[in-house]
Amino acid sequence: MASVDFENGFISILLLGLISTFSLFFLFFKKPKNVFDLPPSPPSLPIIGHLHLLFSVSIHKSFQKISSKYGPFLHLRIFNVPIILVSSASVAHEIFKNHDKNVSSHGAIGIDECLVFGTSGFIKAPYGDYWKFMKKLVIANMLGLQALERSRAVREVEMDRFYRNLLDKAMKKESVEIGEEAMRLVTCILGKMSMGRSFSRESDEAKVTKLSLEFASLTQKIFLGQLLRKPLEKLGISPFKREIMNVSYRFDELLEKMIVKCEEEEEEHQGCEIMDAFLAAYRDEDAECNITRNHIKALLAELYFGAGDTSSKTAQWVMAEIINHPKILEKLREEIDSVVGKTRLIQETDLPKLPYLQAVIKESLRLHPPGALLPREFEQECKIGGFYIPKGTPLVINAYAVMRDVDSWQDPDEFKPERFLEKEEVGREKILNFLPFGAGRRSCPGSNLAYILVGTAIGVMLQCFDWQIQGDKVNMEEATGRAFLALAHPLHCTPLPRILNPLPSDL
Ligand code: HEM
Ligand SMILES: *[C@@H]1O[C@H](CO)[C@@H](O)[C@H](O)[C@H]1NC(C)=O
Ligand SMILES: *[C@@H]1O[C@H](CO)[C@@H](O)[C@H](O)[C@H]1NC(C)=O
Ligand SMILES: *[C@@H]1O[C@H](CO)[C@@H](O)[C@H](O)[C@H]1NC(C)=O
Repeated sequence: MASVDFENGFISILLLGLISTFSLFFLFFKKPKNVFDLPPSPPSLPIIGHLHLLFSVSIHKSFQKISSKYGPFLHLRIFNVPIILVSSASVAHEIFKNHDKNVSSHGAIGIDECLVFGTSGFIKAPYGDYWKFMKKLVIANMLGLQALERSRAVREVEMDRFYRNLLDKAMKKESVEIGEEAMRLVTCILGKMSMGRSFSRESDEAKVTKLSLEFASLTQKIFLGQLLRKPLEKLGISPFKREIMNVSYRFDELLEKMIVKCEEEEEEHQGCEIMDAFLAAYRDEDAECNITRNHIKALLAELYFGAGDTSSKTAQWVMAEIINHPKILEKLREEIDSVVGKTRLIQETDLPKLPYLQAVIKESLRLHPPGALLPREFEQECKIGGFYIPKGTPLVINAYAVMRDVDSWQDPDEFKPERFLEKEEVGREKILNFLPFGAGRRSCPGSNLAYILVGTAIGVMLQCFDWQIQGDKVNMEEATGRAFLALAHPLHCTPLPRILNPLPSDL
């Protein structure tokens, strides 16, 4: 299959327009048989349909705009392939409540052999035996609440290092990039949680972080590759393949080395249940599922990638909002000082006693969800709201639009953490308007860990430091060309020690 690299923007639209006029016209001239009654479709361009929307600078915003004009339940056309687009809490609720199992797959794979989002991975695995087996393994040995309790000490060590590193920068009056520091923290924690002492903070962290970030910068292209695969496959084109596989090969090589090290130093990662469980399943010929080395590498890559960029971007957005809202900062400080005090470092066990901090993080996730678009696929034909959707149709839930939907949020564009402190009426059916971690069976299994990581990291940064930025407001502009929502201008700020004596280390 040929591999074509092209940049976003006009050239690609022209190119695709040209290709489409010459070849697809003949391939697809006959209209698809309309036995199914799809939801309405907004006006589209001849032949390419709504393809141009996918090449807009910010897909979630173009989708939001089109649905605010034409409705929350639409179908778009990429050439002649329909995509269902959902943009309101009520339609999302209908789907996850009545049809969750039917949409429990993350949709088409762009590049089969890619380590992240490929056929060996977990994220794109069909809802079936392999996915169920791995999910059980991951929840029981790493991401479930009990497993997280058992690995608490590992995170405490890394959080203490995070604090000391910031303290060091503060003493030298150096500025830090919040997203970068958070990314390194998360990679270290994940490395230690999964591989124990076999994971080297000195030599592995930087490499894993770099590769995860490279993957993250390709997310929009990966997303496009998935949606365009069906229409372009007939032409033998696989967009962005060379670029994406380059990162995948290097990640594979690094993980192979790390796994070999784990196998050699079995006792070194004692207590790192997940690696033990992987290796046991890999060696066990009678296991419920036959796990290959590729499965292990792909899952590890997806965990690093799934945890790192999302959590660190969340930390960055939260800090940006806090810096721009001094009253909120003051309230957070009062809460932290009264619950934790100034003589010891905040810990993850403090988080349940810090409801305002949690509300601030939720509010930030509502406005700036790293996963703005949730791609799924209809595995069965479905009847939703009077429409019939055929099996195999891609589905995109615009979580960004749902979380700014005026019908389910008051003042949706304003940063008001207090809204998360109001008690929900007990027994009332929850509406599905808060989707930063998706929903249903395929929702994020790392959400508990994510709240812990972001909560303690933000807690440490607020408890121990004041933060200085250049200018008086953080520019909240979103970066373009990425599927994961990020700040356009990385948040650089300088920590100033807030507590006179450095906090003692308990460790
Ligand atoms: C703030 C941080 C995070 C955000 C915003 C986030 C968001 C998401 C979203 C939106 C999905 C897709 C859900 C759906 O389709 O309904 C997802 C899936 C996933 N996330 Fe996260 N995530 C975060 C942190 C983490 C962490 C810390 C881990 C693991 C260590 C993780 C591992 C995964 C995995 C493995 C999946 C695939 C689940 C499946 O296919 O069944 N995520 N995440
Ligand atoms: C899946 O779709 C079928 C056919 O529309 C429907 O009868 C069934 O209730 C759905 N199941 C779930 C679990 O959503
Ligand atoms: C990836 O790309 C870089 C620079 O373009 C090149 O030097 C390197 O050999 C490539 N690696 C692989 C594994 O393809
Ligand atoms: C795993 O592989 C072994 C040997 O190749 C085979 O006998 C067994 O049936 C396989 N198990 C599953 C669940 O596929």
